Amino acid sequence: ELSPIDKAKFVAAKKAVEFVEDGMRVGLGTGSTAAWMVRCLGELVRDEGLKIKGVPTSTRTAQLAREVGIEVVSLDAAKWLDITIDGADEFDGDLNLIKGGGGALLQEKIVATASDQMIVIADAGKEVETLGQFPLPVELVPFGWQTTQALIEETLVSLDVLARKSTLRMNGDTPFVTDEGNHILDLHLKRIGNAQQTAMVLNQMPGVVENGLFIDICDRVVIGYGDGRVEVRD
Ligand code: A5P
Repeated sequence: ELSPIDKAKFVAAKKAVEFVEDGMRVGLGTGSTAAWMVRCLGELVRDEGLKIKGVPTSTRTAQLAREVGIEVVSLDAAKWLDITIDGADEFDGDLNLIKGGGGALLQEKIVATASDQMIVIADAGKEVETLGQFPLPVELVPFGWQTTQALIEETLVSLDVLARKSTLRMNGDTPFVTDEGNHILDLHLKRIGNAQQTAMVLNQMPGVVENGLFIDICDRVVIGYGDGRVEVRD
């Protein structure tokens, strides 16, 4: 028996895989909700003979995809994707997102951007009026990361945000390392008044590889509820 939150994630995932058709190249997201989606796809491959190629957005997802019997290919082998299904940490009414809570935002953004459509699957608790309650993950190269952090904090003063604290993501006693060998700085902004500007300004800084704001990338959100209802927003 699933907890309400897992039920919500599961029903969203189950609904989203209905958009996957035979022969598609599918971007596979990362996180606990995306893991449900990978398992659902694996079931369709096994039980219904669905033929797809999957492009994972993390080593974790690649491993799970192989375990459940999905053919895994690299993004460059696939060249272009028909659809990407991924989770999110927050989404707003314009279907803009914060992602990267799981640390995979860089591959996730590259894959989603190389897809004809991106579907986000989320429990209803991820919806917000304005992005920013969830700390915004920013991927930094390890070289000089404290200097980059200082530059970011200085620059935040010119942006429409409510708070300006930042913390390096840790893995026990050492900095968290992404699949691409970088670090993650979590920006505690509370409220991001202008997400587009924030994303652009962050990505202009040397030392910043990518940020977790997904603006105009998501086409559709499938929202799951604890009682098993689903809602599709596009
Ligand atoms: C991974 O880097 C993130 O972008 C995830 O998509 C996000 O953290 C959602 O994860 P959950 O589905 O576990 O909440």
